[in-house]
Amino acid sequence: MTVTSAPDPAQAPHLDLAGRTALVTGAAGGIGAACVLRLAAAGAAVRAVDRDGAGLAELAGRAAGLAGPVEPVTLDLTDLDAAERAAAGTDILVNNAGIQLVRPIEEFPPEVFSTVLTVMLEAPFRLVRGALPHMYGQGWGRIVNISSVHGLRASPYKCAYVAAKHGLEGLSKVTALEGAEHGVTSNCVNPGYVRTPLVEKQLADQAATHGIPAERVLTEILLADSALKRLVEPAEVAEAVAYLCGPRSSFVTGASLTMDGGWTAH
Ligand SMILES: NC(=O)c1ccc[n+]([C@@H]2O[C@H](COP(=O)([O-])OP(=O)(O)OC[C@H]3O[C@@H](n4cnc5c(N)ncnc54)[C@H](O)[C@@H]3O)[C@@H](O)[C@H]2O)c1
Repeated sequence: MTVTSAPDPAQAPHLDLAGRTALVTGAAGGIGAACVLRLAAAGAAVRAVDRDGAGLAELAGRAAGLAGPVEPVTLDLTDLDAAERAAAGTDILVNNAGIQLVRPIEEFPPEVFSTVLTVMLEAPFRLVRGALPHMYGQGWGRIVNISSVHGLRASPYKCAYVAAKHGLEGLSKVTALEGAEHGVTSNCVNPGYVRTPLVEKQLADQAATHGIPAERVLTEILLADSALKRLVEPAEVAEAVAYLCGPRSSFVTGASLTMDGGWTAH
């Protein structure tokens, strides 16, 4: 069985974001980098925010020649005041940065729980707070929160991540209600497992642990609840983000767009 099905970026639907400024957090990594490249390809000027300066430099190299410029901004989002300042003047905000620790609740370090909530819920709140005055002023704005199937469903051992993503869903809906009269939409995108280095490493590790091929780990363990037995590609998630930033989605707000291969259809 084939487990890859990457979309061809050359086939991406036409989208013109020339003149728009976008900010993407967690930009050095898988989904964030794909969002930066997609929005810059559509002509947006993109502020690429991450704590990983080397990763941002590499991304800037990959973005050379795209229609819109990419500005790397090295920033740790646990500096909440700096995060709020960084969002000022942006037309499009993509809250994507995330971290994960898999551990039972009784062993989960409280300080890690706090950091996960800071990066994945408080920082998005501060970024939205920093972005809204400019968006309201011009009567147009797009906020896209990269949530997860774990914004809608729980899994054991992921207490901080699931709590943060459920909180992000709530923040997104409140932003949608308050932003509606100002031309600002706010939505979540909810992927299942995405083909990122972290997930590929999980596959390899579990294959070694269980002594079975990586493809069986994928279909029988990771994707047990998914009707489609493959990973979703970062470029597919970025395409959903692009749709939510484009002119055809202006009535879509307060929504959670699942890209989970049918997981939440159960
Ligand atoms: N990979 C998946 O299977 C999957 C599935 C559903 C949802 N998601 C969500 O998508 C988003 C991106 O995930 P990914 O798999 O691309 O992750 P990734 O680990 O590849 O990238 C995350 C990026 O966030 C950055 N980051 C982390 N903490 C930061 C901080 N304090 N300040 C600044 N930057 C910070 C990292 O440096 C990294 O570049 C996350 O919110 C994640 O929860 C991922």
